[in-house]
Amino acid sequence: MSKVAVVTGGTRGIGEAISLALKDMGILVAANYAGNEEKARQFSERTGIKSFKWDVGDHEACIDGCAAVAEDLGPIDIVINNAGITRDGVLAKMSFEDWNEVMRINLGGCFNMAKATFNGMRERGWGRIVNIGSINGQAGQYGQVNYAAAKSGIHGFTKALAQEGAKYGVTVNAIAPGYIDTDMVAAVPPPVLEKIVAKIPVGRLGQAEEIARGVAFLCGEEAGFVTGSTLSINGGQHMY
Ligand code: CAA
Repeated sequence: MSKVAVVTGGTRGIGEAISLALKDMGILVAANYAGNEEKARQFSERTGIKSFKWDVGDHEACIDGCAAVAEDLGPIDIVINNAGITRDGVLAKMSFEDWNEVMRINLGGCFNMAKATFNGMRERGWGRIVNIGSINGQAGQYGQVNYAAAKSGIHGFTKALAQEGAKYGVTVNAIAPGYIDTDMVAAVPPPVLEKIVAKIPVGRLGQAEEIARGVAFLCGEEAGFVTGSTLSINGGQHMY
């Protein structure tokens, strides 16, 4: 029987590449999204991957959304916590709402999705959770106290949950992408982005597929001894 995966934020950017990479492994993929229904419909038509709408920052919505996926595709074996937003700004200008929304979605989403799926994985004796952190959670970033804190939190969450899952065959790992060629990075003001790219030893932005490749490895059967780890994929920008 095919394994079943949920990729949050799975219809665009890095998430889309992850959904496709898992599909290529023969995994039944549910791509979660929160926003544009028309874009999600086009994604599903283009890829043949079903899309499911809910807000990962909403605890009850995650429980209900994962139940709907399980009802449709079968019990969830793999969760990729990829959904994330930015609300960049220096602390002096950052509102409480900008802080809270990033924590609620980026970090809260990981908790909500794990609550909805971890017990089932544990009971069935196999599972994979891959959390998408960030270079900015490892190194910090000017103008991102909210995002850096949430992403750093994801790295701690990963190491703690990995310890709880280990004896049940459930691995929990993180990937820390650097600057990847997506809409999120395209929103960084061009002069700022130019300076950032100049500091990437490989000399370019990463591609979403280069993150998806790491996720695919961590989800494979052969990665069962890898847990609690963080795989940095950042063109050498930060060596942790
Ligand atoms: N280090 C030190 N000083 C910096 C700095 C930095 N990295 N960046 C900006 N500054 C300084 C500027 O030189 C400027 O100083 P002066 O006033 O003395 O000239 C001051 O800070 C204000 O800079 P801005 O004009 O840029 O201020 P702003 O309020 O218009 O914008 C900002 C601030 C929103 C933080 C903007 O600089 C920005 O968007 N920075 C990029 C943040 C970033 O990298 N986000 C990543 C998004 S992608 C992502 O998050 C994905 C992932 O996981 C990697």
